[in-house]
Amino acid sequence: MNKADARLDYAADKMIGELLKEEKVELDEKFRAVLKGELVERIRQHVEDKRRQEEERVRKEEKSRREYFLRFGLNFRLQHLTLAVGVLILIITGLPIKFHDTLVAKIFFEMTGGIAVSRVIHRVGATLLIIVSVWHVLFITATRTGRNDFKQLLPTPKDLKDFVQNIKYLLGLSKQKPRYGRFSYVEKFDYWAVYWGMVIMILSGLLLWFNNFFLGIVPKFMFDIATEVHSDEAMLATLAIVVWHWYNVHFNPEVFPFNPTIFTGNISKEKMIKDHPLEYEQMITKTEAQRKKDVPR
Ligand code: HEM
Repeated sequence: MNKADARLDYAADKMIGELLKEEKVELDEKFRAVLKGELVERIRQHVEDKRRQEEERVRKEEKSRREYFLRFGLNFRLQHLTLAVGVLILIITGLPIKFHDTLVAKIFFEMTGGIAVSRVIHRVGATLLIIVSVWHVLFITATRTGRNDFKQLLPTPKDLKDFVQNIKYLLGLSKQKPRYGRFSYVEKFDYWAVYWGMVIMILSGLLLWFNNFFLGIVPKFMFDIATEVHSDEAMLATLAIVVWHWYNVHFNPEVFPFNPTIFTGNISKEKMIKDHPLEYEQMITKTEAQRKKDVPR
């Protein structure tokens, strides 16, 4: 190859190089545009999926809030209502009798017709309490629902474990809340406190009410004990109801201002899963088993 040819060859190579460089830039741009388009599409798809998942979650939550289970039947609710009315009457009329020297008690008697009226109304409340305790004993012995509920209210070793787990959870030592069945250890404690409280109040109250009748049968010191026990247990019962019970069922921040379940009987699916997960799972398993049984073969 002579010098002229070599120069031409070199010039041609350079031109080809320039052309390729231009084409490369063009290709790069095309490639980048395609890649960008694809990326934008993927991001759009991802955002869309997330939005759909979130909508689905909110829809499910909303649905479970609107879905209800029957927690307490009519019989149970009426017992609770009678008990609540009876105990409130007893507290409102009993405490002014106990603190009859105080200004508040004097104003109360002034407004309600005197201590004699309070004594009569106290006996009306007492009658309601006696009626509901007989009714409850019949309920837990003679009805299937009552027997079943009573069995589930009996304390078990799991209650102790749940108590320890709850303390750990409240102290931040564990992230897992205890998983309760139909009744938590707090509800069982409530039930048994009322149960024994009623036995004590009714027995001591009957002794005070029918003292003339019992004087012939029971020694005098029993009346002194009954008076003391009735008076002190009344304070304990009042505080247990107002502080412990009302806080747990109504004033607890997770429930405040009011839990209507004991009045309507209904509990939302959301609350059921949160507060009674084991009972909920049992119900679902039972329903599934029943559905399979009902399918014609
Ligand atoms: C939660 C239930 C009850 C509460 C909070 C309650 C409260 C009280 C209180 C604070 C007293 C005054 C005691 C004192 O003088 O130191 C009292 C007196 C009395 N209670 Fe009750 N009581 C309850 C249930 C009953 C029952 C079930 C009966 C009857 C079966 C009853 C019959 C009486 C009687 C006869 C007196 C004496 C009142 C008088 O001076 O005539 N109480 N009660």
